[in-house]
Amino acid sequence: MDYKRYIAERIRIDGVSADEIAENLSVPPDPAMGDYALPCFKFAKILRKSPVAIAEQLKNEFPVGGAVEEASAVNGYLNFRIDKKQLAEEVLERILSQKDRYGASDEGAGKTVCIDYSSVNIAKPFHIGHLSTTVLGGALYRIFNFLGYKAVGINHLGDYGTQFGKLICAYKHWGNREEVEKGGIHAINDLYVKFNNEATEEMEKEAREYFRLIESGDKEANDLFEWFKELTLSYVKTIYDKLHITFDSYAGERFYTDKMQPVVDELKEKGLLKESEGAKIVDLEQYGMPPCLILRSDGASLYATRDLAAAIYRKNTYDFYKCLYVVAYQQNLHFKQVFKVLDLMDKEWAKDLVHVAYGMVSLEDGAMSTRKGKVVWLEDVIKKCVEKAYAVIDEKNPALENKAEVAEKVGVGAVTFGALYNNKIKDIVFSYDKALSFEGETSVYVQYTCARARSVLEKAAAEGYARGGSIKPCASEAELVKSLDGFPAAVRAAAENYEPSCIARFAVDCAQKFNKFYIDCKILQAGEAERAFRLSLTEAALHALTNALTLLGIGVPEKM
Ligand code: ARG
Repeated sequence: MDYKRYIAERIRIDGVSADEIAENLSVPPDPAMGDYALPCFKFAKILRKSPVAIAEQLKNEFPVGGAVEEASAVNGYLNFRIDKKQLAEEVLERILSQKDRYGASDEGAGKTVCIDYSSVNIAKPFHIGHLSTTVLGGALYRIFNFLGYKAVGINHLGDYGTQFGKLICAYKHWGNREEVEKGGIHAINDLYVKFNNEATEEMEKEAREYFRLIESGDKEANDLFEWFKELTLSYVKTIYDKLHITFDSYAGERFYTDKMQPVVDELKEKGLLKESEGAKIVDLEQYGMPPCLILRSDGASLYATRDLAAAIYRKNTYDFYKCLYVVAYQQNLHFKQVFKVLDLMDKEWAKDLVHVAYGMVSLEDGAMSTRKGKVVWLEDVIKKCVEKAYAVIDEKNPALENKAEVAEKVGVGAVTFGALYNNKIKDIVFSYDKALSFEGETSVYVQYTCARARSVLEKAAAEGYARGGSIKPCASEAELVKSLDGFPAAVRAAAENYEPSCIARFAVDCAQKFNKFYIDCKILQAGEAERAFRLSLTEAALHALTNALTLLGIGVPEKM
C-alpha cells in the first residue's frame, strides 16, 4: 500500500492538494519517532498559524484507525505510526503471491531501452577495467526488463582501427596458426604487445598497408581479422557466461563502416562540417568544448564518427526511449561531444542519450597496471576469487555438498557485488578478503542469509507447515517488514538513476534486518500463530533477497 497517499488523503489543508501533502511526508530518521512525518512549517503562511498549532489541529482532525494507529504532534511535526500488523499482512500477502515477480512491474511496457555495455576491444585483453561496464550494464539490462521495458543489450565491439593492421603484421612475422589456435586471446595479445615493443619502422609501414587491405576488402587480411575476432569473442563469451551477461547485438564499430558517409553528408548539408588543418570537424567552441573530429586529413573516420552513425542506426532500428552508454568517466567529453553534435543535427531524441559513467576499479595488491603487457585480466580476478571462496567455504562448512558449485556462485558473486555495491561513479579498490567476508556488506553475507532462510523453511516443510498467521509484529519483525516493503522502490530507483547499487544496498539492509529477526525471534519453536507468521516472513525475505541478487546477476546457493 502507498502509505503516503493513504495518509495524505486523510488530511485536509485548504488550498493544498493531497499530492502536495504526500510529497511533503517524510520518513523520520529514528523509527521511534514514527513511520511518517509531516513538517508543518510550510503551511504556516497559508494558514496564518504557527507550525505547532497546525500540527496540533491536524492531529485532532486525523481519523486514527485503519492503517494509521496513532497520530501525534511534536514541535511542528505531525507524526504517524502505521498499524504494523496490517502493514505486515499486506506486504507478506503481496510478496507471497508475486514471488519471483515481487518488485517487477509493467511500467515500461512499450518502451525500448538500448544499453551499450562491456563493448570489448577485439584482440585486446579483457581486463579488470571492463568489470564495471560489464556487470553494471548486465544489471541495468535485467532491471529494465523487470520493469516491463524491452532492454536491448549492445556490445559495441572495438573492431575497427589501425591496430588490426599491426596485429596481422605481427602474426605474419612471428606467429603461426597452431600457436594462436592454442593460445587464443593470450597468444594474440602477446603478438600485439611484441609489435608495440619491437616493431621496426619497416613493419609499421607494413602494418598500415595491412590495415588498408582490410579496409579495401582483401580476402586474406579479412580472413585473418575475422579469425582474431572469433577467438576474442569465444573467449569473452566464456566470461560472460560466468557473470550471467547476455547481449542482443554485437554490432561493433566496423558495422558502421558503410553508415558513416550519410552522416558526413548530413553534417555538410546542415552546414555543420568545417575544415580545419585538412581535417573535417564540427566546431563546438560556443558550447565550451573542443571540436568534434569527424574525418582525419587522410579521410579516415574516427571513434566519434562511428558513434554518431551508431546512435542514428539505433534510433532507426529500435526506436529507443532511452539509449544508455555504460562507459568509464574518462569518456565524458567524448559523449558530451557526440550528443551535442546530434543535437545540432536536430535529432530531437539526442536528449534521450545517456552516458552512464562509472569510476575505476583497482586491486588492493597494486593498482591495475596499464604498462605494455602488464594488465590484470578479469578472468584471473574471477578465478582467484572463486579459489578463495572455496577455501572460506571449506573452512566454514567442510561437510557441504557440491562445494565447487557454491564457491563458483560465491566467488563470482563477490566480484560482481564489489563493482555494484557503491555509487557507480566512485573509484573502487577491490579486496578479495573484504569481498569474501561473511560479516561485511557483501554478497556472501546476503547469500548466506538466503541459505539460512531456506534451511528454516526446509525444516518447517519437513514438519508440515502452515503460513499466514497474523500477529502484532515485534520491533525486529516490523523492521524487516518495512525493509521488504521498500524493495519495489529500490528497483525503481535503480532504474531511474542507473544505479544498481540501490538494489545492492537493499539486499544488505534486508539481510541485516532478517538476521536480527532470526536472532530475536524463535521461528520453529514459536506458538502456532507466531510460527506461521514468522515462516511467512522468512519466505518473503527469501523471495525479496533472491530477486535482488538475481537482478544483480548473482547466483543464490541453496545451501552454504
Ligand atoms: N570499446 C570502447 C573502449 O574500450 C568502449 C565503447 C563504448 N561504446 C561506445 N558506443 N562508444 O573504450
